[in-house]
Amino acid sequence: MNFPVTFLTYMQEALYGPNGYYMVDRSRFGRVGDFYTSTQVSPLYGDLWAHFIAQRPEYRASDITVVEFGIGDGHLAESLVEGLLRHPLVTQAVCYIGLDQSPTALARTRDRLQKLEGRAQVYVVHSVTELPHEVRSRLPGAFVLGNEVLDAIPCEILRVTNSEVSRLMVTTHADWSGIAVGPYAGEKLVTYFEQTQDCSCLEYANRYIRPVNDMDAPIEGVNDDVIAEAGVLLPQFLRHVHETIQPAYIAFVDYGGFAEDLIASDRPQGTLRAYRSHQLLDVFLDQTGECDLTYDVNFTMLTDELERLGYDVVPPVRQGSFFMSLPDIHNFLSERMKEDTKMASALKHLVLPGGLGDRFLISIAQRKGEK
Ligand SMILES: C[S@@+](CC[C@H](N)C(=O)[O-])C[C@H]1O[C@@H](n2cnc3c(N)ncnc32)[C@H](O)[C@@H]1O
Repeated sequence: MNFPVTFLTYMQEALYGPNGYYMVDRSRFGRVGDFYTSTQVSPLYGDLWAHFIAQRPEYRASDITVVEFGIGDGHLAESLVEGLLRHPLVTQAVCYIGLDQSPTALARTRDRLQKLEGRAQVYVVHSVTELPHEVRSRLPGAFVLGNEVLDAIPCEILRVTNSEVSRLMVTTHADWSGIAVGPYAGEKLVTYFEQTQDCSCLEYANRYIRPVNDMDAPIEGVNDDVIAEAGVLLPQFLRHVHETIQPAYIAFVDYGGFAEDLIASDRPQGTLRAYRSHQLLDVFLDQTGECDLTYDVNFTMLTDELERLGYDVVPPVRQGSFFMSLPDIHNFLSERMKEDTKMASALKHLVLPGGLGDRFLISIAQRKGEK
């Protein structure tokens, strides 16, 4: 990296550069990795998504194509496709397309999904441009799903006051000659805030930070300068999903909240976190590529951007309420429990408050005119 760089460039390099966290072959997920997502808790998670997708009226009469963004090691892919194949409402063909920019994610998922050969059409690729023509023609109307992918899209970190927007920069101690050191500084690398006129940073501050923390009457305990992550790449990512696939549905699951939840007195430095071996790291800046970097997703912005692209968006709800209010869920679950008794404790973990049930929000967007 040629320092100084914006935090967004630092995070891009740290996660997706040649030695980036997601690009090298290491164990990231589960007990032996750095963190768990719902997809490693139990295959029940994929089953619950299969139950939701199977009930969409659009897929009753036509084949089901699911496109997953950010496949990780393929845990969700496996349980979701198995769940669709065994679901009583699904009699038609199932096609799964997994997309990820990490070569190890692609390799591990391809291995994991070999067992589906002959039962479902499976494609695991870096980009939809690699798909055969006849498969690309099946993308419009697909169901798009992304589990914990939005929190892995690099962000800016902004400091916003009444009069000024600054963004976090990263440089080396050797090159640093200022007086105020920003958050996350390490032994080698240091951060500082620099005033910016970058349009996407200014727009984010004006839409999602200033209206929430009224700078003239700030939220009690929050200073009149707010530090918050800004997912400035989210609009272009969503446009890419929309334009390359033209899906009927787009579903995202992530931690986060509405704009007003993300600026709170208990988070004076924002929500950025670094994980390694299940430990939350206080000082991580020097460990470029060694740890996961993640932050809370702004679901107000997600909803705004999906609506702007022409989707009806159901107000995001917590994972537990979402799954437990699906039609016919109790019958569905009791059938699954009969087949596998381990599912009962997995269900508690996935849906109860205190577990993952209230940690994650789910946003469902449906293309207008698809109802
Ligand atoms: C936190 S992991 C989640 C993996 C998996 N969905 C799970 O829940 O276990 C994020 C994944 O998203 C991938 N990713 C990040 N940005 C992406 C993008 N623009 N397109 C596709 N995959 C992306 C990363 O490479 C990584 O595999």
